[in-house]
Amino acid sequence: MEIVIQPTPEAASHIGAHIIANLVHEKPDCVLGFATGGTPMLMYRELVRMHREEGLDFTRVTTFNLDEYVGLSPEHPQSYHAFMWEHLFQHINVPQDRIHIPNGMAPNVPEECAAYEATIRAVGGIDLQVLGIGTEGHIGFNEKSSSLASRTRIKTLTEQTRRDNARFFGSPENVPMHVITMGVGSIMDARQVLLLAFGEAKAQVIADAVEGSISAMNPASILQMHPVAKALLDEPAASKLALNEYYRWVYDHKPQWQRFVRGH
Ligand code: PGA
Repeated sequence: MEIVIQPTPEAASHIGAHIIANLVHEKPDCVLGFATGGTPMLMYRELVRMHREEGLDFTRVTTFNLDEYVGLSPEHPQSYHAFMWEHLFQHINVPQDRIHIPNGMAPNVPEECAAYEATIRAVGGIDLQVLGIGTEGHIGFNEKSSSLASRTRIKTLTEQTRRDNARFFGSPENVPMHVITMGVGSIMDARQVLLLAFGEAKAQVIADAVEGSISAMNPASILQMHPVAKALLDEPAASKLALNEYYRWVYDHKPQWQRFVRGH
């Protein structure tokens, strides 16, 4: 995995936005995988700015989101549909019929999951998948012990995740118990993966995912097997990495042509 450590979440998010913008410029009909949560919000804000001020054009882009709560309609303020509209989709020009988010109200969940996988396949797969990481290592909502080969399916959230997400719902009891999430195998099929993590609360899980053993107990650790995975971290999230200094040294010595942002 390539580890990029930046002084602030803003700096790391700007690199992420530049990587996405470069891809959209190179391949205007690319397929982007998006994530929800607090972590990617600054990156989405920067993409919105690039759209408004620099004309970054999403009209041919297709998107897939990682997950959605079962039982929440798209209009529910805590649904991931609502989150994506509020923070990204209403501000950019990706056509609505190219936006895909699992339907948490689907009457037949296994059918919805199979159809989601089929749609990803039909458009040729995901070019770049954005990921956050849960405090116990989930990517998407693939909680600890998830099959590392899993596909889109229903999952039951751990108590830890429900506590972590209670800030959006008022209390852990209000957080839905079930979700539809792309699987670990579905995520690993993306041609490029961008993992973002900020803050000290993510330091241990990042150290375990990046430098620990590959294990279903920390599903993010499978990204060690991904050919093009980058972790964009702020300093607190990187603080428990044993090779912290080495990653900085490597990044500082990248050839200019390999940099994501000119002058960075
Ligand atoms: P967060 O969530 O960005 O709100 O910390 C990350 C995740 O659960 O994947």
